[in-house]
Amino acid sequence: MKAWRIEDEGGIDALNLADIGIGEPGPGEVRFRVKASSVNRRDFNTVRAPGERNTPLPRIPNSDAAGEVVAVGDGVTEFGPGDRVASCFFKRWEGGRMRAPIMASALGGAEEGMLSEEAILPQTALVAIPEHLTWEEAGTLTCAGVTAWNALVAQGCLKAGDTVLVMGTGGVSIFALQFAKMMGARVIVTSKSDEKLERARGLGADETVNYADTPDWDEAVMELTGGQGVDHVVEVGGPGTLQKSINATGFGGHIGMIGLLSLGEVNVVPLLRKSVRLSGIYVGSREMFRDMNAAIGASRMRPVIDRVFGFDDARSAYHALGSDAHFGKIVISLG
Ligand SMILES: NC(=O)c1ccc[n+]([C@@H]2O[C@H](COP(=O)([O-])OP(=O)(O)OC[C@H]3O[C@@H](n4cnc5c(N)ncnc54)[C@H](OP(=O)(O)O)[C@@H]3O)[C@@H](O)[C@H]2O)c1
Repeated sequence: MKAWRIEDEGGIDALNLADIGIGEPGPGEVRFRVKASSVNRRDFNTVRAPGERNTPLPRIPNSDAAGEVVAVGDGVTEFGPGDRVASCFFKRWEGGRMRAPIMASALGGAEEGMLSEEAILPQTALVAIPEHLTWEEAGTLTCAGVTAWNALVAQGCLKAGDTVLVMGTGGVSIFALQFAKMMGARVIVTSKSDEKLERARGLGADETVNYADTPDWDEAVMELTGGQGVDHVVEVGGPGTLQKSINATGFGGHIGMIGLLSLGEVNVVPLLRKSVRLSGIYVGSREMFRDMNAAIGASRMRPVIDRVFGFDDARSAYHALGSDAHFGKIVISLG
């Protein structure tokens, strides 16, 4: 079978379409045909500079996969041939809190990734896909979807009537917008692009701020909330935006610390004074993924896909993500 592999430090254009063996699933394992795999910023960074992330080479990239079960090993009780499944970001995080061994089980990093025609995972690293989703839609859930869910729902304890600040319009942020609206929250979205903000309004964003035109976007958010600040921030900007996120958060609010898109220094004193809760988010567990899928199924929510590339054209998907022109998710389809 064919798999895209990172084999050296040559970046996106050095990705190699290799012929590799797959074998049979062992006890507790499931073999599935990959139908779609979306690209996350983290996958882009891994392909661009694997050494910076200590990625063992060769390595198949991407954590995300939606696929159809082909064969199961002894003792597999949850899935059978023909079932539609999605990969969990961590091979070993079924539930409970994050632990060190879990960190060392990320697909497309410490463990082999999903950008291959077939893959084998333990049944405990797979979830059933919501029935109404296409393969491409289901292939976006593993990283961006679960991360947004963890930040807002699992850690953030989001409730109807809360106000949520969503930064940017990439994969994680658009999931956060959709979950927040699904759960009855008021949502403020920031972006560097008015066109993207218009699309965010189409998905239900209540207010928008262009952070390129309005560098003091924290003040704009305070105005939009009548000086109260927001209840939740989906923080994808990192240290370069965190100070303003703290400024824009209300007393007792929650910041889900997710991204590292910019650098900067942070004064933590306002965190204490406002009793703001700051949670480190590292994607999420299988349990969170199942909860999220139940919500997606019940609300018939559909992930937002910007573009779909063919498997043979996988390199173009990483280039597209790097151009930062996307809104929502970029997907590689295996048909
Ligand atoms: N901790 C975790 O578990 C976890 C999981 C997933 C992702 N992440 C991280 O979260 C970040 C987003 O990931 P992603 O996959 O959603 O990326 P993505 O799809 O590439 O989205 C990135 C978007 O963020 C916005 N952005 C960039 N710089 C910004 C800034 N300074 N302030 C506000 N918005 C900014 C831009 O939106 P506009 O064009 O609209 O401005 C950009 O399109 C990355 O740093 C990624 O590594 C972490």
